[in-house]
Amino acid sequence: MITYNYDDISKVYDDVRYGEVELINKMIQDSDIDTDSYILEIGCGTGNYLKIFEQSFNNIYGIDQSRGMLSKAKKKCNHAIFTLGDATILEAYNDCTFDLIYMVDVIHHIKEVDKFFKSINRVLKKGGFLYIFTDSHDHIKNRLTTKYFPQTLEYELGRYQSLNELTCKLKQNNFTDIETNEVMIGYDHKYGFKLIELAKKRGYSMFGFLTDEDIESGVNRIKDELENGVEIVYKMKAPYIKACKA
Ligand SMILES: C[S@@+](CC[C@H](N)C(=O)[O-])C[C@H]1O[C@@H](n2cnc3c(N)ncnc32)[C@H](O)[C@@H]1O
Repeated sequence: MITYNYDDISKVYDDVRYGEVELINKMIQDSDIDTDSYILEIGCGTGNYLKIFEQSFNNIYGIDQSRGMLSKAKKKCNHAIFTLGDATILEAYNDCTFDLIYMVDVIHHIKEVDKFFKSINRVLKKGGFLYIFTDSHDHIKNRLTTKYFPQTLEYELGRYQSLNELTCKLKQNNFTDIETNEVMIGYDHKYGFKLIELAKKRGYSMFGFLTDEDIESGVNRIKDELENGVEIVYKMKAPYIKACKA
């Protein structure tokens, strides 16, 4: 049974998570938007990405189903417009409203993906773009959380849809020009220390179902390696799927 809750996670989220400007630059470069374009973030959380978008864009929207996460986002952002609600429905928005819709680390939380893609298709303008940033199965198998907290692997593969599966569902829901790629962000040479903090604070939802013993044992393995001079480096890259509304 999953025990994470984003209202709880919101209290520590910004201690351990932040927006990556490289993702935003990629979307701006490749999606033909201007300062007056309408942009929506699905599952905007504490607003770390919207805050960056706000600096150059006028019509910024965010939806999230966690009151706790949204309350942090509202304090951080100036003119973004927020909606508390379920992204599967998107009832707050009119048809053909947005030029760009994006989501970062959210699609694995969406259970009814077909219904969700239909809603996205409805509120996107014709020719508008959807970006889904999500971990691929390869990424999950090779990431450092899996190395130090192997109990997360099966659970993560089970809840993250594969990029192929998402691509097929996008096609079935009339999206075109579907592209899978990744954005290189950089190298985090201090990730070992960060991962200890993330695990202790359960700052990733995958940590929510681990026992205290699982957390302690992973943290101890990281500490041992750091004490033995091992540099734990995270090669940060963000896999994504881009799709267009025909
Ligand atoms: C890992 S956080 C990502 C937050 C933000 N995108 C970021 O990268 O900082 C996942 C967010 O998705 C939201 N979420 C999950 N399922 C949702 C749904 N069906 N509708 C709206 N928000 C949802 C959660 O409340 C949480 O804030």
